Amino acid sequence: MASKFSLLITTFFILLCTLHHNGEAHDPFACDPKDVTTKNLPFCKVSLAISERVNDLIGRLRLEEKVNLLVNTASGVPRLGIKSYEWWSEALHGVSNVGPGTKFGAQFPGATSFPQVITTAASFNASLWEAIGRVVSDEARAMYNGGVGGLTYWSPNVNIFRDPRWGRGQETPGEDPVLAGTYAVHYVKGLQGTDGNRLKVAACCKHFTAYDLDNWNGVDRFHFNAQVSKQDIEDTFDVPFRMCVKEGKVASVMCSYNQVNGVPTCADPTLLKRTIREQWHLDGYIVSDCDSVGVLYSLDLDCGPFLGLHTQDAVKKGMLSEGDVNGALVNTLTIQMRLGMFDGEPLSQAYGNLGPKDVCNPVHQELALEAARQGIVLLKNNGPSLPLSPQHHRTVAVIGPNSDVTITMIGNYAGIACGYTSPIQGIGKYARTIHQPGCANVACSNDNQFGPALDAAHQADATILVMGLDQSIEAETKDRAGLLLPGLQQDLVSKVADASRGPTILVLMSGGPVDITFAQNNHRIAGILWAGYPGQDGGAAIADILFGAANPGGKLPMTWYPQEYLTNLPMTNMAMRPSQSKGYPGRTYRFYKGPVLYPFGHGLSYTHFVHTIASAPKLVSIPLNGHHHSNTTNFSNKAIRVTHARCGKLSITLHVYVKNVGSIDGTHTLLVFSAPPLGGGNWAPQKQLVAFEKVHVDAKAQKLVLVNIHVCKLLSVVDKLGIRRIPMGEHVIHIGDVKHHVSLQATTLGIIKS
Ligand SMILES: *[C@@H]1O[C@H](CO)[C@@H](O)[C@H](O)[C@H]1NC(C)=O
Ligand SMILES: *[C@@H]1O[C@H](CO)[C@@H](O)[C@H](O)[C@H]1NC(C)=O
Ligand SMILES: *[C@@H]1O[C@H](CO)[C@@H](O)[C@H](O)[C@H]1NC(C)=O
Repeated sequence: MASKFSLLITTFFILLCTLHHNGEAHDPFACDPKDVTTKNLPFCKVSLAISERVNDLIGRLRLEEKVNLLVNTASGVPRLGIKSYEWWSEALHGVSNVGPGTKFGAQFPGATSFPQVITTAASFNASLWEAIGRVVSDEARAMYNGGVGGLTYWSPNVNIFRDPRWGRGQETPGEDPVLAGTYAVHYVKGLQGTDGNRLKVAACCKHFTAYDLDNWNGVDRFHFNAQVSKQDIEDTFDVPFRMCVKEGKVASVMCSYNQVNGVPTCADPTLLKRTIREQWHLDGYIVSDCDSVGVLYSLDLDCGPFLGLHTQDAVKKGMLSEGDVNGALVNTLTIQMRLGMFDGEPLSQAYGNLGPKDVCNPVHQELALEAARQGIVLLKNNGPSLPLSPQHHRTVAVIGPNSDVTITMIGNYAGIACGYTSPIQGIGKYARTIHQPGCANVACSNDNQFGPALDAAHQADATILVMGLDQSIEAETKDRAGLLLPGLQQDLVSKVADASRGPTILVLMSGGPVDITFAQNNHRIAGILWAGYPGQDGGAAIADILFGAANPGGKLPMTWYPQEYLTNLPMTNMAMRPSQSKGYPGRTYRFYKGPVLYPFGHGLSYTHFVHTIASAPKLVSIPLNGHHHSNTTNFSNKAIRVTHARCGKLSITLHVYVKNVGSIDGTHTLLVFSAPPLGGGNWAPQKQLVAFEKVHVDAKAQKLVLVNIHVCKLLSVVDKLGIRRIPMGEHVIHIGDVKHHVSLQATTLGIIKS
């Protein structure tokens, strides 16, 4: 009897644990198999095509029901068994609670908080970006299954980091269009999964377009009219969005707050309908930033109440047809169907097994740590003095307002992290530490705490200063006024360096670049590390690099300018190209020719790599479309329109040896740039990143790396009218200091025949 009873109890507990293990399952969003009135309706039939199901559902909805589905907080339709849905969730670098669709608590107290995107971008490792996307979408699905998360995530932010002062630059993958586009493609793939038409979660590339100013000198993003040339749109601002839609197959694009050339981006049919839908073939929905909609044009979903409040009225007054409303619903309902939201019980579907055990698990947290190790950039290493040695540097002074931070490390658009390792905790695993903040916070407005910091530096075998910025200095709605370290930080660093007995190492946390020329030039500062905002275990990653357990391989995804760069550079001037007559310097490594502190792509290693080109073509023929060029024109001095070339998969393949000539293993990022022929006109960038590959090479070993460069996409330049052209003649491919010349020649049928 007793044993039978205990068996019962045990069974009960197993049952309880199984239920618990799957999370507190919430009721299905729609098409509940227990609901006999709806489960057999065609829109619930998994066996039918999604387009049929969407049309069936739209046919059943009344106008007022339809209208209430067009806003982020979409109402339910109880008579059809459809629950309400909050479209707005965020997952920029981990599941976030910035959007109202996702809430932490109870079984889901936190989620893995990866480094801020600018840090992860610095890894230049596309498979890492995809792996992070997979982990984030696992955790998002787990939270959805538990009833506390959404399935539509308004991430990533792929705007170009155009101006170093931008408060949201931290959220982006940097200043280069191809880097930003490649990041978008891989992160989106990781989030959305690769199961054909099905979506794991729906991602969103934002903010389209030319949005990279929050609040500068009295100009804010809601009122800013970005004057952008067709040339800059085509070869800078559009590039990441086009790649995100065409190659990443993203489920959604968000339009931005600002205007472009006098028209709000969310109300511009040319941008939204012609570009995103007709040219790039977006298979998904377009959403407004919250709440940037005044008028419904080609938009499908409004973050904010506007569409819900005014659409029905607009239809009644004949300003909008019900057909327009249906068109928007096709786009949003299709995404919900692709997510499986109309397939009944979520727990019996793909990803239905994901629950609390899949959030913050050791594998996920290890990837967050690994991402930080891969993204941290070694800017300076005189001597070399790094890595430090736990044998020789037994006591380390750890100084600075960012030396014991946690939330600072996860930047903005974050959630609640699983836990943290602060810098002082990370360093404490390698050495005895003497901790002195030196300043109360990053504003560092007085020197009251300098004394004990100098004493600590004087006593220790080595000094590590953890300085930089946080969200009080650079943030959404807050652009910086200048590029220098805030307050008395510079003073503290210099004084501590003078007082230090051992080597002084400067570690910076920041999203944007900081002008630390003083530290670069100070011979008492032996090493400098940029950690960006390195995520929940950033302190462990910093320590692993400082003490040599990891060899740094990150490269800067943006140019570090001296403060003087800003002299004649209104943030409101969108032009990428310099203007000599206006004394305007131009922007990013592609166009700016003046002095820099560290160039785009800068990053040192504890070892040394050498490149040699094993093989590469010297001449590439570009077949022209017969319709346009059936005579034997001499094209050698021209730049032919990309639309006139038979591009196909036409590409150049380089074989490059990467040799590790040092004595420790390391990873190396091969950055491949190309420069068009001179006379590519004023159109062309001085150089452009066309490919990058990350490789691990053991000490004294070498690896052969294959680099493919798509000719039409990557060797083309854009003329003043915004037309993409391939300049004929000699292009120079740069890999580090190795250069290779390749000549492009157009061929027509006529020439081939003669
Ligand atoms: C051949 O090309 C030249 C130069 O572009 C052009 O002026 C001429 O009209 C073309 N001839 C034909 C038959 O297309
Ligand atoms: C084409 O024009 C270039 C520059 O004008 C000249 O150097 C080259 O010889 C010409 N090629 C042919 C095949 O006429
Ligand atoms: C890129 O990141 C992935 C995931 O962390 C890792 O497995 C791989 O080794 C990295 N590649 C290189 C060359 O470091």
